[in-house]
Amino acid sequence: MKKFFSILFIAILLANCTATKEDKVTGLIAEKAMVVSARVEASQVGSDILKKGGNAYDAMIATQLALAVVYPQAGNIGGGGFMVFRHSDGKTGALDFREKAPLSSDKDMYLDEKGNVIPGMSDFGVHSSGVPGSVAGIVEVYEKYGSLPFKELVQPAIDLARNGFKVTKNQARSFNGTRERFAKANNYKILFDAEWKEGDVVKLEELAQTLERIRDNGRDGFYKGKTADLIVNYVKELGGIITHEDLVKYKAVWRKPIEFDYKGYKITSMTLPASGGVCLAQILKSVEPYDFSKIEHNSTKYLQLLTEAERRSYADRAHYLGDIDFVNVPIDSLTSPEYIKKRMSTFSWDKATKSSDVSHGEVLGYESNETTHYSIIDQFGNAVAVTTTLNTGYGSKVYVKGAGFFLNNEMDDFSAKPGVPNVYGLLGSAANAIAPEKRMLSSMTPTIVEKDGKLKMVVGTPGGSTIITSVAQNILNVVEYDMGMQESVNKARFHHQWLPDYIRMEPRGFDSITKVNLKALGYELLERNSLIIGRVDAILVLPNGKLEGGADPRGDDAAVGF
Ligand code: GLY
Repeated sequence: MKKFFSILFIAILLANCTATKEDKVTGLIAEKAMVVSARVEASQVGSDILKKGGNAYDAMIATQLALAVVYPQAGNIGGGGFMVFRHSDGKTGALDFREKAPLSSDKDMYLDEKGNVIPGMSDFGVHSSGVPGSVAGIVEVYEKYGSLPFKELVQPAIDLARNGFKVTKNQARSFNGTRERFAKANNYKILFDAEWKEGDVVKLEELAQTLERIRDNGRDGFYKGKTADLIVNYVKELGGIITHEDLVKYKAVWRKPIEFDYKGYKITSMTLPASGGVCLAQILKSVEPYDFSKIEHNSTKYLQLLTEAERRSYADRAHYLGDIDFVNVPIDSLTSPEYIKKRMSTFSWDKATKSSDVSHGEVLGYESNETTHYSIIDQFGNAVAVTTTLNTGYGSKVYVKGAGFFLNNEMDDFSAKPGVPNVYGLLGSAANAIAPEKRMLSSMTPTIVEKDGKLKMVVGTPGGSTIITSVAQNILNVVEYDMGMQESVNKARFHHQWLPDYIRMEPRGFDSITKVNLKALGYELLERNSLIIGRVDAILVLPNGKLEGGADPRGDDAAVGF
């Protein structure tokens, strides 16, 4: 019997080892410029704008709007997002076009009379929507850095909406799987509430007309006039609270990004209300003292080290982080070397730390996750990383009558009540409580890496709470393990977020010994057959100056360049 189990163990081991052997893959190589996004049509639109002589900011606008048409799961004009940029001259910056809580929102708006969270209210239907920021975002980008006529940047999305795009297999499954919720969130049968199959063509005439109003009137084409009327009237019909005043008052904000050094690489990422930059800095600075040449990629030690860094960072995230326009967040202390050293001082190679034993540190002074990310490098050397979302797939599922787009369900990213997790299982505190005009905490992590003053990598991903840890792993893949971009993107990923206290792992890519060892050390593992973690879209600048795209095969993502 004992022999039987030994043979079985070896057989399983060999099967797993074979599965983990991934050939060295190379992504699309381009000489000068590239766009990588969730859909080939959107990457093509962005690349075409670059080919016409537009810059990365022009391509950002065109790609964002094209995604709003061909990738309605997350591409949006009814949501928000963040952009991190690096100009060819090395100047960096960030734009926050995150949604805001409506003016009449309230910290207890999702609680019943007993003070309990009302299930489903913050993440589904009209009550879950924040005031959209994406159109203000693209207009802000255009006013500061755009070069081609605005109309030329919007027109490709109008054409895609009017002439139609082909449904992919993934998309057909996603549309069909959401029909019941589309019907429940709306008081009429929306266009997507139908039986779809791969290859069907979707035409979005109402969206084409909304985009025409944006093309002709800029931000007023969305926040005022007919589009605003359509939004406010439909929200009112459904009993929601977004008003004309909310729309008119919405402003995107330029922010100072989080910047830090990792072993000689300069990393620029998004600041609050996106937690991405702060947590990425904490995680990478926690592991920086270790010699990765002695730690095999995705081995027990690798998972241990990153997990313990992630555990501590997400505990801080839950306690300290929120919208810096509303709460005082000790960013410098949380990312200081002394603080991080102290946090990691309880890490042991011999035993898992228990999340119940880790609270936030003392400082002086996360359904499906359908965000989307795109990376762009232009022929002039400018780079932009943009992560944008409706929150979960199709956001609130509310499809604005007559205007043809989904409203977000971003209000769920607030902490509805301290200690009660959101859809990502993330906890929050008073720092992320709801307040009128406040922005909800995000995990989005659009990031740019440079080395010796030169652009090295543009990276980001969807994935809710797993965004930060996926970005960290891709940076380590390239910087510590010398992987190419596509190879890095393809690698199996894992995630820990303090609570719940388990390591989520993609089912492929981790051998049995690693899993057995981790369990023996006291780690709980969560593997699900269908589980994917993020869909990373990234670009690497190769030593010869060419660009390698990493388009995530976990989705329909594609790189297009020239
Ligand atoms: N809605 C997901 C995030 O912003 O993190």
